[in-house]
Amino acid sequence: MTKLQNLKHLPQHVAIIMDGNGRWAKQRGLPRLAGHRQGVSTAQKVVETFMEYEIPYLTLYAFSTENWNRPKREIEGIFKILEERLEEGVKFARKNGIRICHLGKPDGLPLRLQERVKRALEITQNNARMTLSLAFNYGGRDEIVEAARRLITEGISPPKINEKVFRQYLYTANIPDPDLIVRTGGEMRLSNFLIWQSAYAEIYFTPVLWPDFGNEEIEKALIVYGQRQRRFGSLPPD
Ligand code: IPE
Ligand code: IPE
Ligand code: MG
Repeated sequence: MTKLQNLKHLPQHVAIIMDGNGRWAKQRGLPRLAGHRQGVSTAQKVVETFMEYEIPYLTLYAFSTENWNRPKREIEGIFKILEERLEEGVKFARKNGIRICHLGKPDGLPLRLQERVKRALEITQNNARMTLSLAFNYGGRDEIVEAARRLITEGISPPKINEKVFRQYLYTANIPDPDLIVRTGGEMRLSNFLIWQSAYAEIYFTPVLWPDFGNEEIEKALIVYGQRQRRFGSLPPD
């Protein structure tokens, strides 16, 4: 952590595509769900580390709208793990001033999970130290289509629609765009994650599988981020 003190800019919002649970399990001759279970433990540790860095926004991608294409057993298993582990997550969030948000659609999720998520959001809504957004049953295209649908339903007139208004209809309304997107597991794509919000995000890919992702990896990603020059379309300073 000490090295980071020398860095000029830390990201305010880091969003992570937690990929590689299945391969991690396979390497050990374990069922894929064992990888997902280990993945949740990694997520808990990662939250603690980002809290130590005082990074105020962390977003974790846990289940995409395309992940419904997986076998039913795996899907049900993932939701069961989320449901089981949410309780302790909420306790931790309460104790540490973390506000939990959900990015994605509640529809389609098991009812018990929907209820637990609702409670988690309510219980933590006034916490201000860190915003932890959990993206599950989340798809970037779905989010944009939903936003368009709500704009129309609310009768917003076309001249009133601009980027600033539109973004308020996304699941991330009130959450700043990610400065840094990290993807573990070696694939170099976004897989429908925050496709609107990532317009100017710095992207960091690592081959490390999500259950093996730890403090050293986080530090590496933050150091690389600190070396990037963000221009947002302007010119570099002379
Ligand atoms: C990421 O791990 C978690 C989810 C998508 C739910 P994967 O399950 O995609 O793991 P790999 O990519 O098969 O190793
Ligand atoms: C992306 O991982 C989704 C999550 C990490 C939740 P996938 O494993 O589903 O992505 P693809 O299929 O390799 O693009
Ligand atoms: Mg994967």
